[in-house]
Amino acid sequence: MKSRREFIKIGAVGTAALLTQTACAADDKSEDNPIIATETIAIKPIVLSTWNHGIDANKAAWEILSKNGTALDAVEQGVRVTESDPENQSVGLGGLPDRDGYVTLDACIMDHNSNCGAVAYLQDIENPISVARKVMEDTPHVMLAGDGAFEFALEKGFTKTNLLTEKSKEAWLNWLAESEYEPQINSENHDTIGMIAIDESGNLAGACTTSGMAYKLHGRVGDSPIIGAGLFVDNEIGAACATGVGEAVIRTAGSAIVVELMRHGKTPQEACEEAVARIISKHKDLTNMQVGFIALNKKGEYGCHSVYAGFNIAVRHTDFEEMVDAQYEMEW
Ligand code: GLY
Repeated sequence: MKSRREFIKIGAVGTAALLTQTACAADDKSEDNPIIATETIAIKPIVLSTWNHGIDANKAAWEILSKNGTALDAVEQGVRVTESDPENQSVGLGGLPDRDGYVTLDACIMDHNSNCGAVAYLQDIENPISVARKVMEDTPHVMLAGDGAFEFALEKGFTKTNLLTEKSKEAWLNWLAESEYEPQINSENHDTIGMIAIDESGNLAGACTTSGMAYKLHGRVGDSPIIGAGLFVDNEIGAACATGVGEAVIRTAGSAIVVELMRHGKTPQEACEEAVARIISKHKDLTNMQVGFIALNKKGEYGCHSVYAGFNIAVRHTDFEEMVDAQYEMEW
């Protein structure tokens, strides 16, 4: 078995750019200097999001951020692109269904004032992130689930839409024919889109949305609609988002932990690494336990890390737009 260091060495190749940029973002990354609100923001606006689909999502977010729009509007409009892409089989329209053939969606959103909204187990609505925003802005609650979330969405003017595309239906039928009747867990079916951003005013916001684990048990809800698990934003400190096996992220309060680690002086990269280490230490069986974190601090420094190889993030800023391969702890 290869050592952790060897694995990191393999993963570090694609991460050189990330490390260079974070080093450029701010010189002072001492652990003795916790990030506080009054520090100068070196990079803004900036947006980062999970996986390859983050490139198109970032484009939509950048349209808003580059015109002095808010981070909240940017992350909502950004992830809507992925939700509405029928070719993407892990988010919104075209998402792979649960084992009974239902596409059920989870999403949450959080702003710089710690306002947040979420929907869980929502069906037949293409853009759950916008329903989550309505929950945040138009109700005294944080989360609506199931039929209640659906009825609320209709009341707010959202349209009932069949989310099960022919492509996803066919994949599900193939799975039914060839697989054991259990949820599958692998690297392909866990590509939630999580997006975090800082706007020109220096405010942070984040959004997270998914159709969840493919062929999951009917009724299963993952980390993506849970504030503190799939997403957390503290405007004094930074923001973090998770992707991967939601159960592991919930068990470790993943995104909240990343933000708390930054509060105590860790860089975004170090915070993501420690959160991944915690996932690993809390699970005896790590088979297919892929989890990845992205983090952004108040200064615009960012980082990402994952349990297994293959996780990447899309980054957009005035001076650059690129994909970054995350460092990781293990190979598949
Ligand atoms: N992280 C997405 C899920 O587990 O549903």
